Amino acid sequence: MSLIFEKTILICGGAGFIGSNFIQYFYNKYPEYRLVNLDALTYSGNRQNLVSIESKEMIRPLVERRYHFVQGDICDSQILNRLFKEYNFSSVINFAAESHVDRSLCSSYDFIRTNINGVHNLIETSRRHSLPRFIQISTDEVYGDVPVGFSFEDSPLNPSSPYSASKASADLLIKSYTRSHKLPAIIVRGSNNFGPLQYPEKLVPLAISNFLENKKMPVHGTGQHIRSWLYVIDFCRAIDLVLHKGRENETYNVSGTAKTNLEVLQAIHKALRLSGHLDNHKIHTRDRPGADLRYAPGDSKIQHELGWTPKYIFDVVLNDTVEWYLNNQAWWKEIKQKSVFIEHYKRQEQANYY
Ligand SMILES: NC(=O)c1ccc[n+]([C@@H]2O[C@H](COP(=O)([O-])OP(=O)(O)OC[C@H]3O[C@@H](n4cnc5c(N)ncnc54)[C@H](O)[C@@H]3O)[C@@H](O)[C@H]2O)c1
Repeated sequence: MSLIFEKTILICGGAGFIGSNFIQYFYNKYPEYRLVNLDALTYSGNRQNLVSIESKEMIRPLVERRYHFVQGDICDSQILNRLFKEYNFSSVINFAAESHVDRSLCSSYDFIRTNINGVHNLIETSRRHSLPRFIQISTDEVYGDVPVGFSFEDSPLNPSSPYSASKASADLLIKSYTRSHKLPAIIVRGSNNFGPLQYPEKLVPLAISNFLENKKMPVHGTGQHIRSWLYVIDFCRAIDLVLHKGRENETYNVSGTAKTNLEVLQAIHKALRLSGHLDNHKIHTRDRPGADLRYAPGDSKIQHELGWTPKYIFDVVLNDTVEWYLNNQAWWKEIKQKSVFIEHYKRQEQANYY
């Protein structure tokens, strides 16, 4: 098997939003790589996201297949050992995580399990198999609230939610492995991503789909929280660069366009050409407990060292994103009718924050 492909990458959590965009981007750009996608298919994982690749691959003989899907958990050492032995990976890129802050405020057990224990299991297996490169996908939320200025890669970690604390913990564990065990790892901290295939509990797809369903969009607090909005393909381009050119044991921030949540909703409202004022389409709720008001990751390091610059303009790709959800209503409608989606929103309503 490994004679045909020069390199095989283990992608963990590739059936989620960013992972499936990354696999599509990478699969189309690099025919010489083989990709193994290990995903537990939790509520946010969706194999349908990669159906176009799966159907192309189905008609190839097994040994020539460039994409393999394995349903499994990063906390399961047996599966990891089996895959590492079978494929002799050249790198691992870990997207697998519990990723929604609101859910971590309702219950944090799964967050600790996957985001900390799962990552520990992955780096321990990587170390034992002398993996040449490990890339951890992390978040700007690990820096916590940034009232003024910017957070850079060496800024203190000051997480505010169980989600961001679990991601910060993973970053620290990885840092310790790079120092003590010489694990060749790199951390990439992305800001708020948006684009196609995002699970519709996150702000952009929830707003688009609620507006289309004539439901009001819940807005935390005043809606003046500032996030750095990053188009998912720009993030994929950054991960690609880090994989090929990033320096071992380093961390790279990747940032987008600063906007308040209300500004993002206004832009979606405009793109959908909704009648009436935005006020008629939104409802303000109690703020998240411990909410961060501003994230502002500085990404001069990846720009200067690796030459990454954002390629996409916020207004243009937000319009494209709105169009994608307009054209793929069956995709998000199927998700929104599942009990795991409905139950979460019932719980949020009871707590009066969404
Ligand atoms: N979405 C963002 O704005 C954003 C920004 C910066 C960083 N990140 C990070 O990027 C990564 C991907 O985020 P996303 O938005 O695509 O999340 P997502 O929730 O859409 O996808 C997560 C994927 O991980 C899988 N998964 C969960 N637990 C698993 C386990 N134990 N074993 C194997 N697979 C498991 C899920 O099935 C799903 O396919 C996460 O690590 C997240 O912290 C996300």
